[in-house]
Amino acid sequence: MRGVCAVTEAEPLYGVMGNPVAHSLSPVIHRAFAEQTGMRLRYEAVLVEMGRFQEALEEFRGRGGSGCNVTVPFKEDAWRAATERTPRAELAGAANTLSLAPGRVRADNTDGAGLVRDLADNHGARLSGRRILVLGAGGAASGILGPLLERSPAELVVVNRTAERAVALARRFAAFGAVRGGGVETAAGGAYDLVINATSAGLRGDAPALPAGALAPGGWCYDLAYGPAARPFLAWARAQGAARALDGAGMLVEQAAESFLVWHGVRPRTAPVIAMLRSGV
Ligand code: ATR
Repeated sequence: MRGVCAVTEAEPLYGVMGNPVAHSLSPVIHRAFAEQTGMRLRYEAVLVEMGRFQEALEEFRGRGGSGCNVTVPFKEDAWRAATERTPRAELAGAANTLSLAPGRVRADNTDGAGLVRDLADNHGARLSGRRILVLGAGGAASGILGPLLERSPAELVVVNRTAERAVALARRFAAFGAVRGGGVETAAGGAYDLVINATSAGLRGDAPALPAGALAPGGWCYDLAYGPAARPFLAWARAQGAARALDGAGMLVEQAAESFLVWHGVRPRTAPVIAMLRSGV
């Protein structure tokens, strides 16, 4: 999908910052969007040393960077580096999309919008009136709660290995809908219509422990991760008889499309890019 035209220094520079970052599919996705929409840009993967996010951001801006995505583990650093934040980034406490101008860093968070778009538009999920369980209370979870609550679920429950983090996270979102937090055991017998894995357990090959009866018969499961990291939870989901067991590849493309819209004012079509990723490009 990479463009064959010669890259010149005049093309605006974008990128993704993370550690690790070599595996990131964001360069492939953004280049595909650029090609599709006729936009000329460069998009790089930038490996950032741990504890050096701010310096790396300044260095990127110094090289002419106009915007960057931010991935694990720097989304909170990106939020702190901002001089201004969109309401959804402010609420999330984490940013995945930065727009850069001299003396200004505008932070946004497109993760939750990407998840909801993938669930609702690509997979036809209805979220309103449904009972949703979110596993995990870190940066990934905080990015999705606002957009999920906007869809008016009957109830949104956040559970976490460390219960206090889930309770504190739910409290932050209490003004936006029916949300509560607790320890993992509180999900026992909850028969949730949709269970979303927002933990990082899959990175180590683990599925987060969940009590019996957490998933409703015919319920759906979604892992924010994709590829090997999603496999343990999706295997659990299938063993529970989930009607759908979805990985986060669609969300990845949708959050990228939302970032593309933020930067370029154009929403690219996502279906061909999701298909490209699924075909293993
Ligand atoms: P991220 O930005 O990916 O959300 P994070 O802020 O470090 O990363 O949060 C990781 C989340 O995954 C936390 O909710 C963590 O639970 P704790 O708060 O108890 O640490 C959860 N997590 C990580 N490994 C896990 C495991 N093996 N089982 C269950 N939860 C796990």
